Amino acid sequence: LRQEKEKNTMRQKFWELGGSKMGNAMRVKKDDDNDEEAEPDQAASSSNANVNANGEVDYKKSTGYASHMAKQKTEAASEFAKTKSIRQQREFLPIFSVRDELLNVIRENNVVIAVGETGSGKTTQLVQYLLEEGYCTGGHIVGCTQPRRVAAMSVAKRVSEEVSAAVQETGRALTEVDQLGGTVGYAIRFEDCTSPHTKIKYMTDGVLLRETLSDPDINHYSAIVMDEAHERSLNSDILFGVLRKVVARRSDMKLIVTSATLSADTFSNYFGGVPVFRIPGRTFPVETYFAKSVQEDYVMAAVKQALQIHFNHEPGDILIFMTGQEDIEGTCTVLAEKMEKLGGDSPPLLVLPMYSQLPADLQAKIFETAPKGIRKCIVSTNVAETSLTVDGIKYVIDSGFCKLKVFNPKIGMDALVVTPISKANANQRSGRAGRTGKGYAFRLYTDRQFREELMENAVPEIQRTNLSNVVLLLKSLGVKNLLDFNFMSPPPEENIMNSLYQLWILGALDNNGDLTPMGRNMSDFPLDPPLSKMLLYAHEHGRCSSEVLIIVSMLSVPSVFFRPKDREEESDAAREKFFVPESDHLTLLNVYLRAKQYKFDAKWCNQHFIHSKGIRKAREVHSQLVDLMKQRRFDPQSCDGSWDVIRKAICSAYFYNSSKIKGIGEYINMLSGIPAALHPSSALFGLGYTPDYVCYHELISTSKEYMSCVTAVDGYWLAEVGSMLFSVKESYETTLLRRQKDRAEQAKMEQELQKKQKLEEEERQKE
Ligand code: CDP
Ligand code: MG
Repeated sequence: LRQEKEKNTMRQKFWELGGSKMGNAMRVKKDDDNDEEAEPDQAASSSNANVNANGEVDYKKSTGYASHMAKQKTEAASEFAKTKSIRQQREFLPIFSVRDELLNVIRENNVVIAVGETGSGKTTQLVQYLLEEGYCTGGHIVGCTQPRRVAAMSVAKRVSEEVSAAVQETGRALTEVDQLGGTVGYAIRFEDCTSPHTKIKYMTDGVLLRETLSDPDINHYSAIVMDEAHERSLNSDILFGVLRKVVARRSDMKLIVTSATLSADTFSNYFGGVPVFRIPGRTFPVETYFAKSVQEDYVMAAVKQALQIHFNHEPGDILIFMTGQEDIEGTCTVLAEKMEKLGGDSPPLLVLPMYSQLPADLQAKIFETAPKGIRKCIVSTNVAETSLTVDGIKYVIDSGFCKLKVFNPKIGMDALVVTPISKANANQRSGRAGRTGKGYAFRLYTDRQFREELMENAVPEIQRTNLSNVVLLLKSLGVKNLLDFNFMSPPPEENIMNSLYQLWILGALDNNGDLTPMGRNMSDFPLDPPLSKMLLYAHEHGRCSSEVLIIVSMLSVPSVFFRPKDREEESDAAREKFFVPESDHLTLLNVYLRAKQYKFDAKWCNQHFIHSKGIRKAREVHSQLVDLMKQRRFDPQSCDGSWDVIRKAICSAYFYNSSKIKGIGEYINMLSGIPAALHPSSALFGLGYTPDYVCYHELISTSKEYMSCVTAVDGYWLAEVGSMLFSVKESYETTLLRRQKDRAEQAKMEQELQKKQKLEEEERQKE
C-alpha cells in the first residue's frame, strides 16, 4: 500500500499542491519577460498582497517575519562591517590561483569552456581579468551574459565595487566613472545602465541577442563571457548558434562559455572540440538526508526542518529552496510565526526572502553577514542554485520543486508550472552547503523519489516553451530554414511549426515563411510579437499609436493595481473608478493618463491604490518605445478620445485569443471551444454588460480558465483582421429568407418551363 501511495507522488502531487498552495502557480503568461530571461519566479507578481503602494515589501503589514527582524536591525547594521579587504577577498577565490593559466588558454583559443564550482569566481572575476589584460582597449568592451536579470544587476553592482576598490589602491580618487553604469554597467530589457565609459557590460542573454540584430558581428566586443551556460535558457541556446558564426567570422573575438556543472563536453563538442578549462574547486563534504516518508506539504515540511536545525544543530546559516514568491512568503511567514510563539528566549533567527520581484535593496540583504550569534535563514527560488553565491551556508533544505515555464498545448501558450527538479539541480542545491565547511543537505523527498522520479537533467527551455519570439528574431537574422539552424538541442519540430503558424496569422510571415515588411518592423521592438503587431497596426491603420504605446507599456510591467490583504474592498472600489466598461486595456490607458495628469505623483498613486514604482516603470518603458518608434519615423499619433479604433488595434493582435458569449457571463474560446470565464478583476465583470465577442491578453488557469485583461470587440473586426481564422456567417433569418427566395425562384422557373413545354406540346398537336 505504501509503495502504491509513493508511486502516485511528485509528478501528480505538484498539481494538487499547485492547486491549493500556489494560487497562481499556473498563471499563464503571455508575458512580461518572455524574450529575455529564465526568470521562473517573475509571474508570481500578480500577488501583490505584501507589497505596498511604493512597490516596497511591507513586512509588518502582511507577514510576521519582519517583527522578528526589526528587533535586530540596528544591532545588525553595526556589525556588517567587512573584515577582509576587497582585494584579499578576490585573491582568496579559487579562480585567482589559475588566473594566468586561464588567460593563456584564452589568448591561444577563440572559444574556451570554463567549468568551475559555483562561487569559484567565474562571474565576478573573469571579466575583470580580461579588463586587466587589456581586452578593453581601442574602444572595445567585454560583455557578460546572464540568463537572469536579478543576477545581471546584482553582479554588476558587486563588480563595480571591486573595480573601484582596485582604482582606490592605485591612489586615484574615485569619480563618476567608477560608479555603477560607468566602467562597469549592465543592461536588461527596458533598462540600460551603461555609458560611453563602460568597459565591462553585464546583460541578459536576450539583450545581446537583440544587439546582434543591429550589428551582426557585434564589433565593439572584444570578448563575450556567456555565463551560466548549464542553465540552457532559451536565449542562451539561440546565442550559441549566433555567436558560433560570429567567432568564425571574427578571429579577434573571444568567446568564453562558463558552466557550473561538469557536463561541459556538450558545449565543447558544439564548438568543434574546443578546450575545457577546469577551475579547481574548494568544496567540503556535504551529508545528504532524505525524507523518510513522502511529504504532503513542502512549505510546512521546510519550516519544520528549519526549526529542527535551528534548535538542535551547531551555528551556520540555512538556505531553503522554494518555488516562487508566494511559497517563499508563506514559508517566511509561518517560520516567523512559529519563532514568535516559541517566545523571546529562543535563539534569534534572521529570515530573509529572495526572489526576482523583491526590491533590490532587500535582495542585497542576503549577502550581508548576520551579527554574531544570529543564524541567517534565506528562503530563495532556484536563483541561489548557481547564479548567486551566499557565503556561510551550512544547511540546505531542498523542497524538490521549482517553477518552470512550460508550453501548455491546451491553452496554446506558456504557463509557469511548479515542477519537480532534476537530479542535477538537486545535487547543485546540496552543494551549496559545502562552500565554507562541512555541510548538511536535507531533501524533503524520499530516496526512492529521487532515484525513480527525478530526471537526470532539466529539459532545456528551448524544448518546452513557445518559440515565436526567437523564430521572428532568427528570421530577421536571415535564417531561412529554421530546421537547418544549428541548435545545440533542437526544439521539437512541432514547436517550430506552431510558432511559424502563429507568426503567419499575425502577418509577420508570408505563405513561403519569409518575413513580411510587417514582420521586419515587428522584430525591431523588444516585445512579444502580438504586442509589436498591436503597435504597428495602430500606427498603420488606426492613427492611435500614442494610446497603444501606453497600453503596451502598461502590459509590459507587473500589474500596477495594489490590493493589500486587509483593504481589499477599499482598493477594489478605488480600482473600479478607473474602469472603462468595455475594456481592461482601455482601463490601463485611463489609469496611465490620469496618473500623468497628476504628474505620476507618488502620493496620488498611494491614495488610488496604484503602485507608483510600477507606473514609473511603465513610463520608462513608454519613453523607450516612443524613441524606437521615432527612430523609424513612425511618429506617434493620437485618436483624440475616439477609443473604438484602439479596440480594433487590440483585436488585430489578439484575435486568436477571442471568445464568444455562450450564456449569461459565460464565454467559450472561438478556436478551441474551451469555456473561459471573465476574471473577477475585469472591468467587464459584473457590470451587466456582456458583449458578444471579446479578445483577451492571457488566460489564467486555476480551478477553471479565466480570461484576464479583456476587451469587447466587434465580430466583423475578427473577420477583417483575422480573416485566416474567421469569416462572416449569415444569420439564421438571412439564410431562411435566402432559401425562401431560392425556392420561389426555382418554382417560378419550373412553372415557366412547364408553361413553355405545354405551349410546345400545343404547337405540336396543332401541326
Ligand atoms: O560565478 P561563480 O559562481 O563562480 O562565482 P561568483 O559569482 O563570481 O562569486 C565569487 C564570490 O563573490 C563569492 O564568494 C560571492 O559570495 C561573492 N559575491 C558577493 O559578495 N556579492 C555579489 N553580489 C556576488 C558575489
Ligand atoms: Mg556565476
